[in-house]
Amino acid sequence: MSTLQMPPVNEPDRQYYFIDKARTYVRQLGEALGRTPRACITTFGCQMNSKDSEKLLGVLEEIGYEESSEEMADLVIFNTCTVRENANTRVYGRLGRLKPVKKKNPHMMIGLCGCMMQEELVVNKLKDSYRFVDLIFGTHNVYKLAELLVMRFESKGMIIDIWEDTDKIVEDLPTERKYPFKSGVNIMFGCNNFCTYCIVPYVRGRERSRRPEAILSEIKRLASEGVVEIMLLGQNVNSYGRGLPEEITFAKLLEQIAAIPGIQRIRFMTSHPKDLSDELIEVMAREEKICNHLHLPVQAGSSRVLKKMNRIYTKEGYLTLVKKLREKIPDISLTTDIIVGFPGETEEDFLETLAVVKEVRYDSAFTFLYSKRSNTPAATMTDQVPEDIAKERFDRLLKEVQEIAHERTQRFTGQVLDVLVEEVNQHDPQYLTGRLSNNLLVHFPGSEDLIGQIVPVKLSECKGFYYLGEKLEQGE
Ligand code: 5AD
Ligand code: SF4
Repeated sequence: MSTLQMPPVNEPDRQYYFIDKARTYVRQLGEALGRTPRACITTFGCQMNSKDSEKLLGVLEEIGYEESSEEMADLVIFNTCTVRENANTRVYGRLGRLKPVKKKNPHMMIGLCGCMMQEELVVNKLKDSYRFVDLIFGTHNVYKLAELLVMRFESKGMIIDIWEDTDKIVEDLPTERKYPFKSGVNIMFGCNNFCTYCIVPYVRGRERSRRPEAILSEIKRLASEGVVEIMLLGQNVNSYGRGLPEEITFAKLLEQIAAIPGIQRIRFMTSHPKDLSDELIEVMAREEKICNHLHLPVQAGSSRVLKKMNRIYTKEGYLTLVKKLREKIPDISLTTDIIVGFPGETEEDFLETLAVVKEVRYDSAFTFLYSKRSNTPAATMTDQVPEDIAKERFDRLLKEVQEIAHERTQRFTGQVLDVLVEEVNQHDPQYLTGRLSNNLLVHFPGSEDLIGQIVPVKLSECKGFYYLGEKLEQGE
């Protein structure tokens, strides 16, 4: 091979080289099939994974695949989650169902990526019992899809490429956006917090922040393409900037983003309570574009359990923070994550969680049964809570959370609020579906051309978790 044909060493040039090369293979596949090859990415888990899937789809479209349903696809990719055990079980189930499909269509390729692939046990199981999988990669090398596909096209065996960790952030690769008017933007990757129940730091690696120029120029480009709402993504956005050469905090980054013309709504997730600064609260209160919503995972209401979880705050500290937030941003919507049945949780501990829920009155809460994750400190704690007890507590918590959420949601009845129109309603095509600044869903009659616009809607009827409304006409 002449040196001219060697792939470049540096990114993103190297990937553009493989994108070119992969295009040839996909074209050949298309000729053999007599049609454009089709691909489907199924995403499990959080917004971080959804964002990665957009990057994967961007590359696939660039090399000549057309997006399709899973049944029609020549390439199926599962972007997996492993935050709780049932996420893993679902992936094995889906894979099992694909086996006969692939047997009938031998040209078909199956790829697995995402958090679950960062677990050694999983990869060993796949190597032993799921030999029909073509491609396995992890969370750190998503950007390498074209290169890995080329490797697969050029060999016959299973391609496995898992990295334990990385300090690399590759910029400027193609990406596909699910919505033309809103987009997630990664501001940091990984997590350094090591909450004792959580597998994320092991599968997503150490925390690293993207350079502010890269973030700002991406958002400026998105705004020029018509994006009006952005969601800043990171496991703990409040610690943004640590380790960067420039002096920057998350609050300062938000201010710079808010100054970008065209961007009208800014969301972010997730905020760790231990790092939520006064500076950030001030910016949230001052900046109109920052949405009136904060997701602030509490995880548990007992300081004893919080300590065992390594959350670094106490119940009192959390409640003080909520009070401060409500003082500075009176109508803010607060949402949270709560784990029930963490090892050693007693009935008294659980009652403290219920009490916190009653005191804070969340607009909504994601409730989870504690799930043992391999290699996490909590997995080997000897005082695991029996399943039936955890389940019973979970049901009580869910009931409380839902009752409060219903009551809270109603408080906007009769008001006129801005809605970002997202799509035609999935059940009734006469209706549109959009979101308020606080993330609540609103359905109202209207035509498709409003999609992507922010319009005033009268919230006529609260239906529990969402509203039915009517769009105000100009001058009303
Ligand atoms: N069991 C149950 N819930 C968990 N979460 C993270 N790890 C676990 C676990 N092992 C929940 C936390 C986190 C959310 C994304 O998932 O509440 O905030
Ligand atoms: Fe997991 Fe805690 Fe990191 Fe969130 S902050 S990803 S719960 S370790």
